[in-house]
Amino acid sequence: MKMQDLSGKVAVVTGASSGIGQAAARLLIAEGVRVVLVARRRERIEALAAELGSNAVALTADVADPAQVAAVFDHVQERFGGLDLLFNNAGLGVNAAFEDSDPADWTRMIDVNLYGVLHCTRAAIPLLRGRPGAMICSVSSVGGRYGVANWSVYSATKFAVVGFHDALRKELGDEGIRVSVIEPGAVRTDFGANVADAMAERWAQLDAMAGEDVAQALVYAFAQPGRVLVEEILLRPVKQTAP
Ligand SMILES: NC(=O)c1ccc[n+]([C@@H]2O[C@H](COP(=O)([O-])OP(=O)(O)OC[C@H]3O[C@@H](n4cnc5c(N)ncnc54)[C@H](OP(=O)(O)O)[C@@H]3O)[C@@H](O)[C@H]2O)c1
Repeated sequence: MKMQDLSGKVAVVTGASSGIGQAAARLLIAEGVRVVLVARRRERIEALAAELGSNAVALTADVADPAQVAAVFDHVQERFGGLDLLFNNAGLGVNAAFEDSDPADWTRMIDVNLYGVLHCTRAAIPLLRGRPGAMICSVSSVGGRYGVANWSVYSATKFAVVGFHDALRKELGDEGIRVSVIEPGAVRTDFGANVADAMAERWAQLDAMAGEDVAQALVYAFAQPGRVLVEEILLRPVKQTAP
């Protein structure tokens, strides 16, 4: 089957300063895509852009702030005249038994994992319209399909992303805009920083995936012919048998 040639396409990758987003940016650049790197840590995305060359642009923004998000997409429109891929990847998880969890952490997770996806997606839609093979792909989680103990609020945000995408797919499909979700299991990144030691132990036990594994799933979906929607990809380490 003929795959789409991705060279010259334009992508926005949120959460590009680390982990899955950084791996996705590298792989998209290797495919000839022009990539806008978005995250809050300016020095990290600027260093990555310098390393990746002239097809990479770093734009600092907090995806939970609609004004900062609007400025990013205004810049993308001015510079590139449109957008082919929005990779909504920025996110965080705070591990806690629900009863002991801090409402300030609920707010942080909902603001970034849900509102961040909503703000970026709404700002991106006008730029995606009319671009053949345009795609919105958001990172949910295995925890967005199955509840995970001690990650309950995180799971709730990721279930919300799946529900939002299922509805949005029905709104945008007729226009040829592909709406897709990726649901990774354990990936070795900076995720779960409040329980970093326990995460490192679990990743070792599970032979956890690398950010590149998720990036390959993204590129697989994006490179399908424009008529093909890869609606959902759940990928997990083979040793992660639950949840
Ligand atoms: N690792 C896993 O096992 C796993 C499994 C399933 C799903 N996921 C999901 O994968 C996505 C990427 O996470 P990761 O594992 O790569 O973790 P990570 O290494 O901690 O990366 C998270 C990224 O999100 C960015 N980010 C966080 N808050 C942001 C905000 N308010 N505005 C803009 N960017 C923000 C961070 O950049 P700045 O701090 O520089 O802003 C960073 O680049 C998340 O949505 C996560 O929920 C991860």
